[in-house]
Amino acid sequence: MATVTSLLLVLSWTACGVSLQRHGLSHLNPRAESTDCSLYQVSGQSATPFENYRFMDFRSLSNYTTSEPAQITSRQDSGDETVTSPYFNSSAFEDVFQILSGVKNPDSHPPMVYSAQNAYISAAGSADGSDTYMTFRTSRNQDFQSIAQMRSIENVLHASMRICMKVLEDSNDTVAAGAVVGFFTYESDTQETDIEILTRRSHHQFQATNQPVSSTAPPGTANVSLPTGKNWTDWAEYRVDWLKGQTIWYINDQVGYQTTNSVPTEASALTLNLWSNGGSFSGNMSVGAQVRIAVQYIEMVYNTTDGQTSGGSGTQCSVDGVKTKGEPQVVQTSGAVTTCIAAPGLFFGLVILLLYL
Ligand SMILES: *[C@@H]1O[C@H](CO)[C@@H](O)[C@H](O)[C@H]1NC(C)=O
Ligand SMILES: *[C@@H]1O[C@H](CO)[C@@H](O)[C@H](O)[C@H]1NC(C)=O
Ligand SMILES: *[C@@H]1O[C@H](CO)[C@@H](O)[C@H](O)[C@H]1NC(C)=O
Ligand SMILES: *[C@@H]1O[C@H](CO)[C@@H](O)[C@H](O)[C@H]1NC(C)=O
Ligand SMILES: *[C@@H]1O[C@H](CO)[C@@H](O)[C@H](O)[C@H]1NC(C)=O
Ligand SMILES: *[C@@H]1O[C@H](CO)[C@@H](O)[C@H](O)[C@H]1NC(C)=O
Ligand SMILES: *[C@@H]1O[C@H](CO)[C@@H](O)[C@H](O)[C@H]1NC(C)=O
Repeated sequence: MATVTSLLLVLSWTACGVSLQRHGLSHLNPRAESTDCSLYQVSGQSATPFENYRFMDFRSLSNYTTSEPAQITSRQDSGDETVTSPYFNSSAFEDVFQILSGVKNPDSHPPMVYSAQNAYISAAGSADGSDTYMTFRTSRNQDFQSIAQMRSIENVLHASMRICMKVLEDSNDTVAAGAVVGFFTYESDTQETDIEILTRRSHHQFQATNQPVSSTAPPGTANVSLPTGKNWTDWAEYRVDWLKGQTIWYINDQVGYQTTNSVPTEASALTLNLWSNGGSFSGNMSVGAQVRIAVQYIEMVYNTTDGQTSGGSGTQCSVDGVKTKGEPQVVQTSGAVTTCIAAPGLFFGLVILLLYL
């Protein structure tokens, strides 16, 4: 069994492929086509399965790579540049996400301008464990900040969303201060669950926040440390589970923070952005500075079955602890009792039993 497990570890290695190392239990799951899945379970505390699954994989898009698009110049202040790659016009992308363009906020100092030219598909380096990744870029011009944002076409009500990413160092092996990477759900400023990296803060932490429901509501925010020795210029999987009445943040499969304060209750869009507005939160980027991030994949499991007519029937699949990231595995067909969530307990129960025999 040890040999089989190590083989699986090698075969399924990716920069963010931490699930298998922690669980290593995929051989317990019956084999079946994941296209049969009608409900999805995630690891952790969610008892209620999700109804939908999307895996946006940017790791094998060699046909779509471009060299880095030209920097946005100070004349390009209306943000109407077109997408940089036919990938962003393909249904694989367009059916799920929209890249924003145009002026976002003329009143911030500096104003922010979305540009589709700040999102592109790049060839990865030899140490990245993939052929390609998606790059997002923000740059500071004299009179405005050129930023990048994509937002889900559909709203979701509850989700487990994950992103495998890193902040790229510049040619001086540093990262310019003043930018914010946001991976979040958004309905309004009081209905929002965030994962945020601030490049002016510690390189070893990200911020987890449920934006306050009101100025008197208890805060739901913390700085979460990356695993020992890691910083956000290393690949890591950031995850937030927005559940009913509770939000749980993970970094590489480890719980980093959880709260029941200010949990959003309204259907929201899933968003990735990279920005700076000169405010007290982001700080300012120096004129001429740029910040880039690389994204290998975004995994989204969304809409829970709570109180809905489909209520929990159908083939259940596990999203976590699977053989291949992005390929949910069947763990339960309708009516069966064993679940993936129970499987680790069962496994360790057996191990303990054997130790006592
Ligand atoms: C890339 O394009 C070639 C030629 O059109 C095609 O044969 C191949 O399947 C494509 N590869 C991917 C990964 O889409
Ligand atoms: C994407 O689609 C738009 C609208 O159809 C088109 O103008 C543009 O040239 C396309 N871009 C690429 C890179 O395929
Ligand atoms: C998910 O839930 C939201 C909010 O109820 C709804 O607008 C959306 O259509 C749902 N998506 C799917 C695929 O059912
Ligand atoms: C790297 O450092 C040099 C010397 O300080 C500076 O001139 C250059 O602009 C820096 N490059 C970047 C990308 O920040
Ligand atoms: C997170 O860290 C920042 C910068 O060190 C600090 O200002 C902020 O208060 C911290 N937030 C929490 C909730 O501890
Ligand atoms: C972040 O980690 C990389 C190695 O993974 C290291 O080269 C770099 O110096 C670290 N940066 C900081 C600010 O700790
Ligand atoms: C950022 O710079 C602008 C002027 O360009 C200034 O108004 C603003 O106060 C600065 N923000 C911070 C946080 O220093």
